[in-house]
Amino acid sequence: MELINNIDIAAQAIGAGKLVAFPTETVYGLGADALNPLAVAKIFELKERPSFDPLIVHIADLQQLEKLVSVIDERVYRLAAQYWPGPLTMVLPKSNRVPDIVTSGLPTVGIRMPNHKIALELIQKSGCPIAAPSANKFGRISPTTSAHVKKQLPRVDFILEGGKTTVGIESTIIKLTGTGFQVLRNGIITQEELEKILPFDGNSILEEQSAPGMMKSHYSPGKKFLIAQGAVLKIEKSKAGLISFSGNLEKGCRKVIRVSEREDLKDYAVNMFEALHAFEDDPDIDIILAEPVPETGIGKAIMDRLRKAEFNWRHSLNHVGP
Ligand code: TXA
Ligand code: MG
Repeated sequence: MELINNIDIAAQAIGAGKLVAFPTETVYGLGADALNPLAVAKIFELKERPSFDPLIVHIADLQQLEKLVSVIDERVYRLAAQYWPGPLTMVLPKSNRVPDIVTSGLPTVGIRMPNHKIALELIQKSGCPIAAPSANKFGRISPTTSAHVKKQLPRVDFILEGGKTTVGIESTIIKLTGTGFQVLRNGIITQEELEKILPFDGNSILEEQSAPGMMKSHYSPGKKFLIAQGAVLKIEKSKAGLISFSGNLEKGCRKVIRVSEREDLKDYAVNMFEALHAFEDDPDIDIILAEPVPETGIGKAIMDRLRKAEFNWRHSLNHVGP
């Protein structure tokens, strides 16, 4: 593994079929030439990601979009004009240029244009679209710094340094339907915001396989993690690390990370994965707690991630409390 600042070296590596972890505005991605199936296969291997879970393809301009997608309707351009570059992924019908390994055999491909100088320059200099999942081991906490990538993927060829990411949670993923759009993954671009451009389609039923990567467990820390509500509020907290938002739950906790000084949900998104990593690495902490927030707007994306992070640990609820 080499940590580098030089985008030319990173672009050459992509061209040579190697893997480069790089910053985006959301989280760090683990990138490879999206049109090179052997390079893409290395992503699945290094991440230990199941082959049924497709990858997002990152582009730097709309010409690339046109080559990757078989039919583009005017709604795509409207959304792109408003949100690209930015944290919005659109699932669109794929062209036959996109290798099946990228889309896990699906007829659709997820595409986004990241709003990050280094990422865009890397794509431009590589001269190809870049397939990239988040640069973490499958099912584990997403990376918002190069150190988080190094911790989980020490065998990656290169990591491009880009500091801490500014959005902190992954892109909103939408699928266009006959009458509007559906949300496959919540992010900081909310359904309400998208509805200003396109109607939300609450009626069409998504086939199970149209969102193969939406597992119940994800973002899972390597030590016990619970959302601080209900019975969890009564547990012994002397070895707890609390991810705190309002400040109201901090009493009795061994350590606290306050994710926002001004109680802004955007700050929760920016800092939540970093806080999870910090407590995961902290030998003083045996259990990680996170304060829940109301499920509206960005709160939906935050609660979605907290629930998935908690999923594998929830069984331990039976053993806590008085
Ligand atoms: O912000 C992000 O989206 C980050 C940065 C690196 O761009 N990437 C990211 O990738 O979060 P990943 O692989 O961790 O999550 C992508 C999700 C997966 O759950 C996958 O199943 C879904 O997108 N996905 C990708 N292509 C899809 C498709 N054609 N249809 C449905 N879901 C798709
Ligand atoms: Mg991921």
